[in-house]
Amino acid sequence: MRGRVLLLLVAGAVSLLLAGCGGDGESDATTSAPPATTAPTTEDAGEGDAANGEQVFASAGCGGCHTFSAAGSTGSVGPNLDDVSPSFDAVVAMVTNGGGAMPSFEDELSEQQIRDVAAFVSGS
Ligand code: HEC
Repeated sequence: MRGRVLLLLVAGAVSLLLAGCGGDGESDATTSAPPATTAPTTEDAGEGDAANGEQVFASAGCGGCHTFSAAGSTGSVGPNLDDVSPSFDAVVAMVTNGGGAMPSFEDELSEQQIRDVAAFVSGS
């Protein structure tokens, strides 16, 4: 009997210790994890890579419909992008959602590719 009571006491003390340590460990993990994962995402969200966007422009076939001198394209289905010089946001919106005879590229291009092509077209 005495042995069991002792064991229970020891077990109780150990689990209290473990609970204390576990709690600290968890709160460390949750406070340090978000900055590590959100920082790169927010950076990516605002920017596009124009050099990569030039390739997206070519591979997505934008030039088949749009004249854009930086890409050397002479399409005439859609507006001449040299004349329109749309903003970064306007290109993101147009390429994502489409509009009129302009197809949506939401399913074909990643968000990053859309930002890249927007950076290329808007020159920003
Ligand atoms: C099938 C032909 C076609 C393709 C492919 C195409 N577009 Fe368009 N695009 C159009 C047409 C047509 C419009 C005009 C839509 C409207 O407002 O009626 C347009 C409009 C736009 C506009 C808005 C211009 C303005 O007046 O502000 C942008 C920016 C644009 N396209 C960029 C792109 C990019 C970047 C790609 C490649 C990812 C692309 N387009 C692919 C036909 C196309």
